[in-house]
Amino acid sequence: MNANSCPPTPASCLLSPDSFLLNPSLLAADFAYLERDIRFLELAGAKILHLDIMDGHFVPNLSFGVPVVEAVRRTTELPLDVHLMLQNPEPYLPIFRKAGADFLSVHIETTPDPRPMLDTIRKLGAVPGLVSNPPTPVESVLPFVNDCDLILTMSVMPGFGGQSFNPIALEKIRRIREIADADKFISVDGGVGEETIASAAAAGANLFVVGTALLGHSDILARFQLLQQRAKRRLE
Ligand code: DX5
Ligand code: ZN
Repeated sequence: MNANSCPPTPASCLLSPDSFLLNPSLLAADFAYLERDIRFLELAGAKILHLDIMDGHFVPNLSFGVPVVEAVRRTTELPLDVHLMLQNPEPYLPIFRKAGADFLSVHIETTPDPRPMLDTIRKLGAVPGLVSNPPTPVESVLPFVNDCDLILTMSVMPGFGGQSFNPIALEKIRRIREIADADKFISVDGGVGEETIASAAAAGANLFVVGTALLGHSDILARFQLLQQRAKRRLE
């Protein structure tokens, strides 16, 4: 990622894909105490937050929308990674960018050619990401890997937190890692926890979305450290 790719979002440019970053998913936070949970995550060392936007069409669930992204933006200076699970994401790109998104990811299943949306995201000053669901062949995303800065492989069918990790994601991550430039964020989302994070890291992931395995526990700080250590263990 060079300085020109996201000039209005210096915080996200400071992130380095060389290291293993946990990406806490606020879907698993306590919404009655969202600011408290964000403070715990900051204290634990989070460098980025993941926000799941669901439309009830692309996925069979609704989560939260623009006002919550705006509220989180007011609460923290951490970069916000907004995962759009929307059947028609294109009109919402400037809206979520204005609400405070630093990273914006769209699903390959919503368009035969994601390049125009990835270009729009870049022009808006955000970091463009491309997501694929477990049944979607990796060949669908490979042609676009170097048109975006973040490639997210789902290890569950999107729509709900707390599901089990599907290892089908691992081979997809390996194939993406093989052709992706070194400065890409190779991300994984769904069922990532102490039992699965090391295999995702070994496959080549460097950005780990973690919901239940982190925020589903009372001691967020200890869980954060444990998960980070497990991710790094692939180096031993
Ligand atoms: C699922 C979302 C995930 C979710 C992950 O549709 O994209 O980001 O929050 O939650 P866990 O880590 O509980 O599987
Ligand atoms: Zn997500």
